[in-house]
Amino acid sequence: MEYITINGGKRLAGQVKIGGAKNAAVAIVSAAVASTGVCVLENLPAIEDVKALVGAMRNLGMDCKFISENTLKIDGSDIKCCAITYEQVTEMRASYYLLGALLGRFKHAEVPLPGGCNFGLRPIDLHIKGFEALGAKVNIEHGMITASAEKLTGANIYLDMASVGATINIMIAAVHAEGITQIENAAKEPHVVDTANFLNMLGANIKGAGTDIIRIVGVEKLNGGEYSIIPDQIEAGTYMIAGAITGGDVTVNNIIPKHMDSLSAKLIEMGCELTEEGDSIRVVSNGDLQACTVKTMYYPGFPTDLHPQMSALLSTAKGTSVLTETIFEHRFQYVKELLRLGANIKVEGRAAIIEGGSPLTGANVLAADLRAGAALILAGLAAEGKTVIGNVKYLDRGYQHFEEKFSQLGADISRINLDE
Ligand code: UD1
Repeated sequence: MEYITINGGKRLAGQVKIGGAKNAAVAIVSAAVASTGVCVLENLPAIEDVKALVGAMRNLGMDCKFISENTLKIDGSDIKCCAITYEQVTEMRASYYLLGALLGRFKHAEVPLPGGCNFGLRPIDLHIKGFEALGAKVNIEHGMITASAEKLTGANIYLDMASVGATINIMIAAVHAEGITQIENAAKEPHVVDTANFLNMLGANIKGAGTDIIRIVGVEKLNGGEYSIIPDQIEAGTYMIAGAITGGDVTVNNIIPKHMDSLSAKLIEMGCELTEEGDSIRVVSNGDLQACTVKTMYYPGFPTDLHPQMSALLSTAKGTSVLTETIFEHRFQYVKELLRLGANIKVEGRAAIIEGGSPLTGANVLAADLRAGAALILAGLAAEGKTVIGNVKYLDRGYQHFEEKFSQLGADISRINLDE
């Protein structure tokens, strides 16, 4: 069993290069299944979710080769079947994108109901309604979703919630629908735009990604091409918070600063100094931060995927902070572990009331999910003494080389294997 150990209390300083976005990568790798050509994807994060997806695609008969750690060549000309097994994607939520890609191209797909981070019910009813609106029959039995159609026809699809997954999945399928599809109340997250840009590069006709109405004119087929994935907004945010929580001086490089606006505004409000230059943001903190109010929202609001990390930071800021979660009501699983590190947090309904400012102290803790794990690392970096974090598998799903990156910034962090 692997654990991360941190001897906290070190001030982090230096530069860190941010990798490709996990949530864009899993959508774009899946979308490549809809292409009959050769796709070369660059700036792909070397994380477990991408590896699991590539494993599942190889089982479909696709030729997938890593040219380097972060570059993948996918030849989709020959696919032997349209069924994914549960074992191939047990813990990965984004396997649902294979449904849209296979349904669009082959008019048939069999994909297991998704797993992924366990923070409450995460239905996929909006994805299914979208496929049905395009003319597919969708059946769920024995944990498998089967979607089939004679043909797909463009439709007007209104999403009850601006779901990232449903927007991307319907967009991928609709590329191969006859006529025009319009997705209303679409999600506007950067990875929605990145997936649309990738599909357009392959020959799709998608307009409006990044606004709440996306219009897709169906095409016969998608060709291949080369594409570089956008930087990871959440990885960048995690390292920015690391600078803030350790009273440090951290510059995140290779990012799109605009994607960080909601976090940057909060860090400045708390008392950090931020400098934006080109594709970098420098965060300087004197360690004397003030409480603030945060509410998670769809993009361009404060991302739910930075909620647990922000909660760790607010635990070190003087005063009472209120952090309200509007996307996933069960996001708060990290709280009981932060309490073990000395944080003072009460959850009331959808809000965490955080009494910040008393020192955090190292303890043994367990990551409940990917971003909960990131919050524990950040709290461990700020805590006096030793923190040992279990369930490292969650962190490996979404953070590439995180021990090396934190070490380079001056953290005393290492991975240990207690079986050895
Ligand atoms: C994606 C991200 C995840 C992020 C989340 C919100 C990926 C692989 N994952 O997850 O990291 O936390 O966006 O930014 O990109 N909902 C329904 N029915 C549906 C779909 C969603 O009710 O069919 C609800 C969800 O329960 C949730 C809200 O809509 O309350 C938003 O979910 P959604 O945007 O779909 O999140 P994911 O795509 O699962």
